[in-house]
Order: sequence, then structure tokens, then C-alpha cells
Amino acid sequence: MSVTIVVGTQWGDEGKAKIIDYLSENIDIIARYQGGANAGHTVVVKNKQYIFHLIPSGILYPNTICILGNGVVIDPKAFLEELDSLTKENIHYEGRIFISDACHIVLPFHKLIDAHKENLSEGQKIGTTKRGIGICYADKMLRIGIRIGDLYYNLEERLQNYINIKNKELKYLYNLPEISYEELYKELKDFAERIKSMVIHTPTYFEKALKEGKSILLEGAQGTALDIDHGTYPFVTSSNTTTGGALTGTGIAYHYIENVYGICKAYVTRVGEGPFPTELKGEMGEELRKYGNEYGATTGRPRRCGWFDVELVKHAGRINGLTGLVLTKLDVLSHFDTIPVAIGYEFENNKIDYFPSYGLESCKPIYEYLPGWKSDISNIKSYSELPANCKKYIEKLQEWTNIPIKYISLGPNRSQTLVL
Ligand code: GDP
Ligand code: IMO
Ligand code: MG
Repeated sequence: MSVTIVVGTQWGDEGKAKIIDYLSENIDIIARYQGGANAGHTVVVKNKQYIFHLIPSGILYPNTICILGNGVVIDPKAFLEELDSLTKENIHYEGRIFISDACHIVLPFHKLIDAHKENLSEGQKIGTTKRGIGICYADKMLRIGIRIGDLYYNLEERLQNYINIKNKELKYLYNLPEISYEELYKELKDFAERIKSMVIHTPTYFEKALKEGKSILLEGAQGTALDIDHGTYPFVTSSNTTTGGALTGTGIAYHYIENVYGICKAYVTRVGEGPFPTELKGEMGEELRKYGNEYGATTGRPRRCGWFDVELVKHAGRINGLTGLVLTKLDVLSHFDTIPVAIGYEFENNKIDYFPSYGLESCKPIYEYLPGWKSDISNIKSYSELPANCKKYIEKLQEWTNIPIKYISLGPNRSQTLVL
């Protein structure tokens, strides 16, 4: 019983990587379970910043093992670039990174189609990261995609069939250039050679590790409200970002799960399109963006900012079975005199006390107003030293969400973390 899951409780970028890095000090194996290079996970150690897209955020400790579970979609180019940047940073990864042989592969045309669809004037713009994620998962569901294991067994036939289907789609549906079999085959074979020693059968690897008493942390990407089933569909990503996805995306059985930590910002941000009830569109939103430095770690896009939304986090608690919350970026709120918190919604003249599957764009937040603390808390080392109004903010969020807050984060550095 030593598996911890870390999930985002909002629309991603909650500071998951910072907390995963912090927790990884005492963890043997860190595994991603879904998503791909759409993730942008920032870790700051001694003021040096690292941004990970596919590599698990626990890589900075010299002895951790990092795994990409079967639910992850791997872009060979992005993955190799990330390995090269580890080498540049003098981070030794040999024998420490493993990939499931059942991961699907993101191919160049997935990215082309993703970007093309986003740029079409007709159809629905999602505001994706253009990393080909949705298109790759669609091919997985259509049962035509190429997996890591295919690189080593019967690739010729699988790739030829796949390209025949995709070339029709590219030509007739999107009017995009067709794929050359020879070029792609060579690229994939070169990739296969480079990663050969990393490819493993993950369910048996995890089972053995757990029987040996190893601790495992499952690293979620994106957040609960971006989950394909439980998020703000269609403005979501194309995977299960939640606890269910951690099980299917690794092959680890449910009874090993000990803790599920939900990471939540002390306010809310969102990148891309879609409803966001507590969004601040004016000057206040710009202030939050400025103080929180809210720009995407993958695309650099400015993040939309708004106040804490209790129903959103309660939704995450319910779906993920959260055993604790980690409240991040509390330091950013030090600038405000009063801090509004949405404790429910008004929808078509009725008060509703859940995060709805439809009509969120018409939900009006019902706010409670808490007093700010207006002092720098970023170097505080214990809970008792926090200003009274800051403690009150934490206690009220705990009371309203009804989920125990286990850690708080007061800055991007590893050291700016308090255990409650
Ligand atoms: P993730 O995708 O959930 O891992 O989050 P991102 O890395 O995309 O975005 C979180 C941003 O906030 C990063 O720039 C972090 O360095 C930063 N960050 C994390 N925790 C804190 C915190 O407690 N305070 C402040 N000021 N920044 C934080
Ligand atoms: P991390 O792991 C924030 C958003 C995109 C878009 C939607 C679909 O860093 O929290 P996709 O490219 O996945 O098809 O885009 O999801 N999105 C994220 N937003 N953080 C992320 O990851 C995200 N990954 C995808 O902006 O709205
Ligand atoms: Mg991010």
C-alpha cells in the first residue's frame, strides 16, 4: 500500500510539479499516467527552473526511477529533445527512465491536424496546445494507432495500414500533405533504437516493485476540469486526468492506492477556451496574472485568472477520492485587500451546490469575502507564523471544501513548502 496519486483539481497548472518534486524526496518511482507533451511542469530548485513536458517531475533526485505509463502519448521528437536537455543540465538519466511498451506514439501529422483544426474558421476552437494530443488519442480509440511495442514487432505492416488510412484523411478531409512511408519508417526505427533499453512491460514492473515495498507516486497532468469525462466538455483534454486514469494509465490495481493529493491553486487559472465562472476579465484579472506570473509553461500563452471556486474543488474531491489538498501559490494573494471565494453558483435563478456537466457558462458565482493579509509570506517557515487572516483563508477553504489541507506552498522553490 504505498502508491500516492497527485492530481490537478482545477484546469491544470496548479503547481503539481512543484509538489511532486517536493514529495519525490521520499519516493522510489514516479510515473506519468496520461497526457503527453501538452503538460508543462515547472520545478524550481535553488532558484533554478526546470520545465518538464514528458519526463516525470521527480527526475531531479539522483536515484528516483521515472516511468511513462501506458496512458501517456509519446511524441518522439519532444521526448528526445527533453532527454538532450537533461544531458545539458548534467542530469544523469541512464537506467532511470522507462517507457511502457503500450504507450501510443504522437506522430508529426497528429500535430499538423491538431493545429489545422484549431485554425479552421468553422468548427469549435478548443485552444489546444497543438501538441497533437487529441488526434493521437482519437486514433487510439479508433484502434489504428501505433504503440511503442509496435516499433519492435511487425512495424512494416502496421505502419503501412495506418498510413493508408491517414493519407486519405489528410488529403480529402484536411487538404494537408500526405505522409511518406519511407521517411516515417526510418524516423521510427531510429527512435526505436535510441529508446530500446528504456522500453518495459509496465504492469509487471509495477507489481514487482510494489511487492518489494517500493513507493510509487503517480503524476497527473492537466486537471480534473480538463478530464474528458468529468471536465468542461468539449473544452477539455482527451484523457482521463483523474484517479481513474491513474489506474488505467499504469495498470496498477486500486488496492495499492494509499493517498490521493489534489493540488489546487489558492485562486484559479485556465488556458484555452471554455467556461470559467469566477474569471476576472478586467484589471483585477491582470493583477492576478502579474503577481502569479500566469503564463503557460508549454505555450507561453497568458492564463485566464479568477477567484477560488469551492464547487470546482469539491467536484475534484468527489471524483478523485482526495485524501488531502495541497494549496499552492498562497503568496500571490498577499497583494489583495479582500479575497472573494465562490462558495456556490446561481443557475437559472436557483442555487446549485455542485459543478454542473452543462450550463456552467450561465452559472453566476455566489461570493463570500475574506479579508486579505497584505504582507509577504513567501519566507515563512511554519504554519503558526502565518498572519491571522491567511490562516483564516486556509481554514475557510478547508471547511467549505471539506477536504483536509495537508501542505501549503508559498513560492516556487522546493523549500517554500509547509506541512500542516
Ligand atoms: P503544473 O502544470 O501544475 O505543474 O504547474 P505549472 O508548472 O504549469 O505552473 C505553476 C507555476 O507556478 C510554475 O511557474 C511554478 O514555478 C509556480 N509555483 C508553484 N507553486 C508556487 C507557489 O506556491 N507560489 C508561487 N509564487 N509560484 C508557484
Ligand atoms: P499541465 O499538466 C493547463 C488545455 C489546453 C486546452 C485543452 C486541450 O501543465 O497542468 P490539448 O492540447 O490537451 O488537446 O488541449 O487543455 N491544457 C492545459 N491547460 N495545463 C495543462 O497541463 C494543459 N494541457 C492541456 O490549453 O484548453
Ligand atoms: Mg503546467
